[in-house]
Amino acid sequence: MSNSKGFALVTGASTGIGAVYADRLAKRGYDVILVARDEKRLSALADRIRAETGRAAEVIAADLTSKSDLAKLTNRLREDKAITLLVNNAGMGFNGTMADGDLGVVDKLIDLNITAVTHLASAAAANFSAKKSGTIINLASVLALAPEIASAVYCASKAYVLNLSLTLNAELSASGVIVQAVLPGATRTEIWDRSGLDINNFPAEMIMDVEPMVDAAFAGLDLGELVTIPSLPDAKDWENINAARLALRPNLSRNAPASRYQKAAARV
Ligand SMILES: NC(=O)c1ccc[n+]([C@@H]2O[C@H](COP(=O)([O-])OP(=O)(O)OC[C@H]3O[C@@H](n4cnc5c(N)ncnc54)[C@H](OP(=O)(O)O)[C@@H]3O)[C@@H](O)[C@H]2O)c1
Repeated sequence: MSNSKGFALVTGASTGIGAVYADRLAKRGYDVILVARDEKRLSALADRIRAETGRAAEVIAADLTSKSDLAKLTNRLREDKAITLLVNNAGMGFNGTMADGDLGVVDKLIDLNITAVTHLASAAAANFSAKKSGTIINLASVLALAPEIASAVYCASKAYVLNLSLTLNAELSASGVIVQAVLPGATRTEIWDRSGLDINNFPAEMIMDVEPMVDAAFAGLDLGELVTIPSLPDAKDWENINAARLALRPNLSRNAPASRYQKAAARV
């Protein structure tokens, strides 16, 4: 068996996107640490990965919305120098508006999609920057760029993950640590049923199967992309919007209001 590329820690590995990441990472030569709540499913995947790839596969049953489970995993990720890659993937959807949504569910979503992602990214940043190598992959969503078409808290959580990734990359690029934000479109996984949403309400041409989505994300990683949008036919479309955003920068903070506001204020 070839030498290991180190351990890849994958959150939300019991099913969906995370399970395919774990499979592909083992096939790429990583030993894997599989994290989610459902220990039985994780163990079945770990057994399959060991049998098919010969790689080591460790299972950690953890609820990332529990402060103590998250703290334990964060410490492990900060301290364990054998870990070389993080897939910050565990996440949940939400079916509700700001006016009528269940705030208990909203809190869970923030705990999982924002707080856990942040703590784990921070631990990985500390671990990997000290070694001057490592990879952090954060699962955002195209809804970071299309917040008008789904629930506010979910879209906002994914915009957070995108911006976190951009800043993380700015902080870490000199240290040789690789950061990637992946923005999938609608992908056929359990997240829809779990959130009480029906993926079949979308036209079939808008829905991607999970394996091609993850394989495209790896292709983007191999190309050195900071932001990968598996569905987007022309990468230039993302580059253009990002360039337009960056062009705002010199005027975003000035010592006087823009003249249109000064004129409006003078009229009052
Ligand atoms: N599918 C899509 O259309 C889509 C599109 C864009 C972005 N994404 C993002 O991609 C990521 C993966 O989504 P997916 O579609 O693969 O979702 P999924 O099929 O629902 O899987 C979610 C994974 O997260 C784990 N998880 C959920 N709650 C957890 C908790 N409290 N603690 C620990 N693990 C927990 C689940 O395992 P357990 O239940 O065993 O804990 C499962 O392994 C998410 O961040 C999602 O927002 C998905």
